[in-house]
Amino acid sequence: MADTGLVITRHIQPHKLKYTPPGQYSAASSFHHYEAIIIKDSMQELIRKGRETEMLSKVKGKLGVMNLLAYWEPLKSNGEAWSTEIYLPNNNDRNSFWWKLFDTEMESEVPECEIRHRIIQVLGSEGFSLTIVNSTWKLFESITHAMLGWLTMYQEGYLHRDVSIGNILRLKKPEHRERFHILPKFKQGASDGTRDQLVRNVQIEVKKQAEQLEILIEELGITNECVAVIADGGMCIEVEECFKERGLHVRSGTQEFMSNALLKLQRATEQHDQSPVDDLESFFWVTLWTLMNHTKFAGLRTKEEEEWGTSLCHGIDRRTFVAVEVNDLSDVRAVDHCQIIRDSCKFMQDFYRLIASIRDLPLLVKQEGRNDPSEEFVMWKWHSWAFEGVRRFLELIKKHKDQLISCPPYQALALRGAGQSSS
Ligand SMILES: Nc1ncnc2c1ncn2[C@@H]1O[C@H](COP(=O)(O)OP(=O)(O)OP(=O)(O)O)[C@@H](O)[C@H]1O
Ligand SMILES: [Mg+2]
Repeated sequence: MADTGLVITRHIQPHKLKYTPPGQYSAASSFHHYEAIIIKDSMQELIRKGRETEMLSKVKGKLGVMNLLAYWEPLKSNGEAWSTEIYLPNNNDRNSFWWKLFDTEMESEVPECEIRHRIIQVLGSEGFSLTIVNSTWKLFESITHAMLGWLTMYQEGYLHRDVSIGNILRLKKPEHRERFHILPKFKQGASDGTRDQLVRNVQIEVKKQAEQLEILIEELGITNECVAVIADGGMCIEVEECFKERGLHVRSGTQEFMSNALLKLQRATEQHDQSPVDDLESFFWVTLWTLMNHTKFAGLRTKEEEEWGTSLCHGIDRRTFVAVEVNDLSDVRAVDHCQIIRDSCKFMQDFYRLIASIRDLPLLVKQEGRNDPSEEFVMWKWHSWAFEGVRRFLELIKKHKDQLISCPPYQALALRGAGQSSS
């Protein structure tokens, strides 16, 4: 941040910065022990302002999440917020600045101007894209840590809602973090606070899932060394907020990685509450996308793989076709494919089945005959889906770990494929 005369007066945590010297931010002494700091400078919608930083503050120092060191809202010298308002007409004038592009009902109302405020965040974990990790194991290990980070955010009461390739980062250097743990609320089992037996049953289910998850984490040797994070809480929402205005929230995500259910909303008007199930499905599409777009295999892919890569960005039907094709890869057919796909196809087959069954969880609530379930019941169901999804993913990691770890690093093979010496 190098804007001259920038006065920092609010939300300064934890370093109590008072002033950012122009052009010298990276020299700020509070951060001298970090090899690199990342400045995220964003204009945030007013309804979202503060959510990302609040969420990141709550999960600070935990495994699998971005490390937020400080944040603030820069103010102009007159104390006003740094906002997009200066570019926008005031409310009385907005009619004259609005013209309809299409003659549809949807555009009959002049929308309110969207005002955004500037927020600066200082992040302390430098990462890089999954498309350049150098082994299949590192890819799956990164997804595992990011998924645990996602569950940590969830336990703190936030749904991430934008699990995408840009928002999962492998860390340049592993970082020492607090071990993943499950909050007491989810391990309590049936609470005395509710008399609804159905809710109590779900609470018992959540406890079971959480306990199994803890055992798996122990078995997998996941301790406090964090190798990857889920980043960008810009679209996160408080879980409780989701229940306040059910069905009214704008669906969120990055198109290529959004769940089928969310994408279908574009085609139909059926109601769908974006839930943990949608985020979990996004982890699958991110992984598949990475397999088809990993940079080490550029120029080495078969024609079919190139087509798969393109199809992943072209809607539900073509994307599902790719998942099914990978699902169908037998040992005999897999040998014709590039290494990253050979290494991963067994895992992806199980992962696809997992996602296909998790998708049904919200429908099961309806089929259980609870057409008008209580908010408390649905919220506990959400918790059970979140824990079940991560627990089952870790079970797959456990099942495939030895095979994934035994896959050779990419570099040598990729270079050899490109006709260069690898010695
Ligand atoms: N700590 C980091 N280390 C390395 N790269 C980072 C880091 N944080 C963010 N980036 C890069 O910057 C991009 C944008 O960051 P981020 O996703 O937090 O912001 P955003 O404004 O919400 O972006 P988008 O709308 O594209 O998701 C990321 O996709 C990633 O490539
Ligand atoms: Mg992002």
